[in-house]
Amino acid sequence: MTTKPTITLITGANKGIGFETAKALANAGHHVLIGARNADAGKAAAAGIVEAGGQADFIQLDVTNQQQIDDAASYIREHYGYVNVLINNAGMTADSHQPASTMPIDVMRQDFDVNFFGLVAVTQAMLPLLKAADGARIINLSSNMGSMGLANDPQSRFYAVNSLGYQASKAAVNFATISFSKELAADGITVNSVNPGWTATTFGGRRLDQPVPDGMQSPAAGAAQVIKVALIDDPATGTFTETVGPLPW
Ligand SMILES: NC(=O)c1ccc[n+]([C@@H]2O[C@H](COP(=O)([O-])OP(=O)(O)OC[C@H]3O[C@@H](n4cnc5c(N)ncnc54)[C@H](OP(=O)(O)O)[C@@H]3O)[C@@H](O)[C@H]2O)c1
Repeated sequence: MTTKPTITLITGANKGIGFETAKALANAGHHVLIGARNADAGKAAAAGIVEAGGQADFIQLDVTNQQQIDDAASYIREHYGYVNVLINNAGMTADSHQPASTMPIDVMRQDFDVNFFGLVAVTQAMLPLLKAADGARIINLSSNMGSMGLANDPQSRFYAVNSLGYQASKAAVNFATISFSKELAADGITVNSVNPGWTATTFGGRRLDQPVPDGMQSPAAGAAQVIKVALIDDPATGTFTETVGPLPW
């Protein structure tokens, strides 16, 4: 008897947390689709996984480009027919902690275009493929920066953080998790938000040759909770977690 492969699409999987997640899930036997807007980087990432003995393909996917999203969904339907796991990992921050009173609207729009509208557009386009799989799961990369509970807690270090564009876009990601988890429960699809934690990637314009400050974890550690939610048996739905447990919304 042949078992159907587990097809996992990860956006922004050419580097950072997305690539670490892709490597781990390929090691666990998933056939990983490396979504990337940069074709060279995406192909190199997929080739690295294949060279290591895993199954991976590159999918051209700028999450702000609806045509590329639709083409990716068509390509996946034609070549695989379904998606078991969608990991909405692509993300960025365009703002740099300017006060809300002076943060340019265009900058905040960039945060929202990738982190929220891109995530929702990819999810909508992949839904027929997720519904074609048995018990599919969607994992949204959120952030403790998007937790309104932490932002409102004077005891939290996030109380003093001020980054309206990024924070609001990740709070919106959490709302997408809540909305989709309710709507898709009847289809047996789980939808969860994960905070990877402070991770040594190129996020926020960081250079990889910069010293790693105390408390900043490796990309593999940043991917740990995403991998756990992707692989766990009988996952809950509508949760917001990090490695040490649940987070306040
Ligand atoms: N690092 C942290 O401390 C941290 C903390 C909390 C949450 N997060 C979240 O974790 C996720 C992964 O971040 P990371 O730390 O791994 O950062 P990263 O190394 O900078 O990787 C981000 C990935 O997103 C991709 N991306 C950006 N805009 C895109 C677009 N329009 N279409 C498709 N892909 C796009 C990037 O592609 P390119 O290579 O082409 O730029 C890259 O592959 C993000 O959602 C981030 O918000 C990170």
